[in-house]
Amino acid sequence: MSERTCLSVILAAGEGTRMKSATPKVLHKIAGLEMLGHVTRALDAAGAGDKALVVGHGAEAVSRAAEAFAPGAETFIQSERLGTGHAVSAARAAIARGYDDILVTFGDTPLISLEALQGLRAGLSEGADVVVMGFRTERPTGYGRLIENGKALIAIREEKDCTDEERRITFCNGGAMAIGGSRVLELLDSIGNDNAKGEYYLTDIVEIATAKGLKVRAIEADYESALGINNRAELAAAESIWQQRRRNAVMLDGVTLVAPETVYFSHDTVIGRDTVIEPNVFFGPGVTVGENVTIRANSHLEEARVDAGASVGPFARLRPGAEIMDGAKVGNFVEIKKARVEPGAKIPHLSYVGDARIGANANLGAGTITCNYDGFSKHFTDVEPGAFVGSNTSLVAPIRIGAGAYVASGSVVTESVPADALAFGRARQSNREGLGKRLRDRLAALKAKRG
Ligand code: UD1
Ligand code: CA
Repeated sequence: MSERTCLSVILAAGEGTRMKSATPKVLHKIAGLEMLGHVTRALDAAGAGDKALVVGHGAEAVSRAAEAFAPGAETFIQSERLGTGHAVSAARAAIARGYDDILVTFGDTPLISLEALQGLRAGLSEGADVVVMGFRTERPTGYGRLIENGKALIAIREEKDCTDEERRITFCNGGAMAIGGSRVLELLDSIGNDNAKGEYYLTDIVEIATAKGLKVRAIEADYESALGINNRAELAAAESIWQQRRRNAVMLDGVTLVAPETVYFSHDTVIGRDTVIEPNVFFGPGVTVGENVTIRANSHLEEARVDAGASVGPFARLRPGAEIMDGAKVGNFVEIKKARVEPGAKIPHLSYVGDARIGANANLGAGTITCNYDGFSKHFTDVEPGAFVGSNTSLVAPIRIGAGAYVASGSVVTESVPADALAFGRARQSNREGLGKRLRDRLAALKAKRG
């Protein structure tokens, strides 16, 4: 199959008005990746060759976003929305270059499976001229019905054009279709718009091809492969299916999820074996977690790396650029941004660490804060290996705490501390014998006098 050339035509010119959004429908995200990105990834996994993106509404935004997940995709504008057949024809310049396979998918059908895409292409390589992705449903309303004659697919009838009998068919058109490259242009050119909607239906090529004596068949895909997203409720339903699948995959790969239904992954989350993830953990994009890590309950991570044996949370927040190295500990109510926490370092409680390096085996006491921002620029804090910073310390960056140094609790550190030094950055305490009692007596007397 791999020696056959393929062009994937992805239809994404739908207005998506039911999303009620300024964002084009296909750019709404599932697991942090645009729906269109899910489709192009599945196509890549299926080795589905070059990509032609047919866009209408929000064309510029869509092609700009596509550069991130489908670099090299060609964009074609369908300026008038005259139907799926018309939309495929918008990519005629690419199609006419001559490919063995033309694979048509929809940009708003994000859960299309690798198996379905492979099945469509396998159909062509086994000699069919047109292969349609069908699926079975007890609620076929709104879908085109597949009309078969034995093994051959002879027509797809859109709901509005169905007879009562046809409407009872539960084998439906999932939207994706593979068409032999040598026939595709003549088939597209034969599509008319004599139907209930007055549109050029791609689905009409089934009858056209059958009339020409070509071989047309349907494959059966899972329901999710055909799941089209039209509103935010359907988007959430697709998200939920995606998450459920990923949780299962992660567990089967050797990760413990204590309460899987409460953990949310991104499309690119990587988790190592024997890592334990407690309840209510959210992974934004760009997180890599090593082996034997514990991510404790209620933590939020994005664009962060956690290496083997480290421990994070409960209630931790790792923001972009957080690197938690082997065996380091980031405890409760700790926020880390753009900072490297080196092996064995500990930040156990109530800290903000941003734009910093916390050296190996250093310890930041409860409430230690890096003051990294002066309202204009960000400044760096360097805590060298083995340093010990007492509780409730403000490290006013730029600042360096030398290796092995001690910083007294409650310090506001504005000058760098040499290695092995002991720094006090707070007012000296004085105790006055008996003055506490005298003050109390005076206040009590005053109150008594006032009555
Ligand atoms: C289509 C199929 C139907 C199938 C269903 C599966 C046709 C005629 N009907 O119906 O058999 O059961 O999908 O979900 O193909 N698009 C364009 N330009 C257009 C029209 C559509 O780019 O002019 C894109 C849309 O953005 C969408 C896709 O094509 O991604 C499908 O269009 P839609 O209008 O949703 O088709 P359905 O009526 O759902
Ligand atoms: Ca649809």
